[in-house]
Amino acid sequence: MNKKTRVAVFVSGSGTNLQAIIDANIPNVEIVVVVSNNPNAYAIERAKRHNIPVEVIDHRNYSSREEFEREIIKKLEPYRVDLIVLAGFMRILSPFFVRAYKNRIMNIHPALLPAFPGVNAVRQALSYGVKYTGCTVHFVDEGVDTGPIILQSVVPVYDDDTEEKLLERIHKEEHRIYPEAIRLFAEGKLHIEGRRVFIRD
Ligand code: GAR
Repeated sequence: MNKKTRVAVFVSGSGTNLQAIIDANIPNVEIVVVVSNNPNAYAIERAKRHNIPVEVIDHRNYSSREEFEREIIKKLEPYRVDLIVLAGFMRILSPFFVRAYKNRIMNIHPALLPAFPGVNAVRQALSYGVKYTGCTVHFVDEGVDTGPIILQSVVPVYDDDTEEKLLERIHKEEHRIYPEAIRLFAEGKLHIEGRRVFIRD
């Protein structure tokens, strides 16, 4: 039997992506821990409901980003994690952390990168007036939302869209492509060449 891919999901908020990944029941993938920097994140309840261990590491208790990240690395050690999945984790990871898990960290962003990186991506897209936006799953590199792109999905913007309505349709796509990207990783089908990610059988 193939070895299971051991996944850590990092969250800060509501955790609908975490829920989608849990519900997808991806073969040969085990969510071994959920890490939250926010002790009040609803995602923690979701993890507990599914008996997934939770580590709360509140960034406000650390005097520097590096100290915070050293603590995460220490807490992760016993879980022997193969892949870190950022699912609405609202802290930027420094090059120090990214190097420790090189090509083993994924993020989901609610826009078609490289458009609208950073915070409030949906608001940025609406106010820019684009006709199409969407979501992107990418490997994390040392920049902010700049890593090699794994999957994207396009979502049209309608005239009567509000940020809420548009976000709801983007979320639907996120919940579809994030489990898919994790499945591809677990099956060893993702190959990174420079900035490009190829999906191979
Ligand atoms: C998601 O829409 C994700 O794309 C976004 O946070 C939301 C988390 O929702 N991430 C970013 O904006 C990262 N820059 P969730 O907690 O319900 O999964």
